[in-house]
Amino acid sequence: MMMKITITALVLTLIGISCVSAEPSAGPNLGRHASPDQIKRWQISVMPDGSGLPAGQGNVSQGKIIYLQKCQSCHGPDGQGASADQLAGASMKLTDEWPEKTIGTYWPFATTLFDFNRRSMPMLAPGSLSDNEVYAVTAYLLYLNDIIDEKAVMNANTLKKVRMPNRDGFINMYKDNDK
Ligand code: HEC
Repeated sequence: MMMKITITALVLTLIGISCVSAEPSAGPNLGRHASPDQIKRWQISVMPDGSGLPAGQGNVSQGKIIYLQKCQSCHGPDGQGASADQLAGASMKLTDEWPEKTIGTYWPFATTLFDFNRRSMPMLAPGSLSDNEVYAVTAYLLYLNDIIDEKAVMNANTLKKVRMPNRDGFINMYKDNDK
């Protein structure tokens, strides 16, 4: 009996070893390798300091045209909100009794707004805007929030210099861990 168990254990061990050693890199044969071009298309993160911002530019009046065509149906005229979030025109600050969370009152970085617009809006066709169009619609949203001038042009250099009203409104919960 003991002998039988030992042999069974030995056989199982050998099967185990042969499974592990049989071309481990082959994996379960699911999916396929992402091509460098596909990886490039997913690497679109823009950091708060502006790193990752692409070439190109757009201004407020160009952004208004895009907004009316592709954003207003959900976000309402002048970003006042409709079926989707209000983006501009808050009359209350975050510290007021009835805080209104908009780009102007809440978002700490204009660069993040570019990243968000590029990767996820318009909601039914994310990724469909060119970089110039994203710069333009981002400019229009900043203008609607009285953050930039009507004549301002947004590009990799100017966008990262925009100082958002709520830039210092966030608390770093982890700062003690950074020491
Ligand atoms: C079909 C409806 C629809 C359209 C069209 C649309 N959005 Fe949105 N948008 C949404 C919804 C829904 C959300 C909330 C998504 C979430 O919270 O995850 C949102 C969220 C946003 C936000 C974040 C708001 C916040 O403060 O949390 C921004 C900025 C934005 N949209 C910009 C745009 C821009 C720019 C366009 C046009 C290029 C656009 N949206 C078109 C539905 C839409």
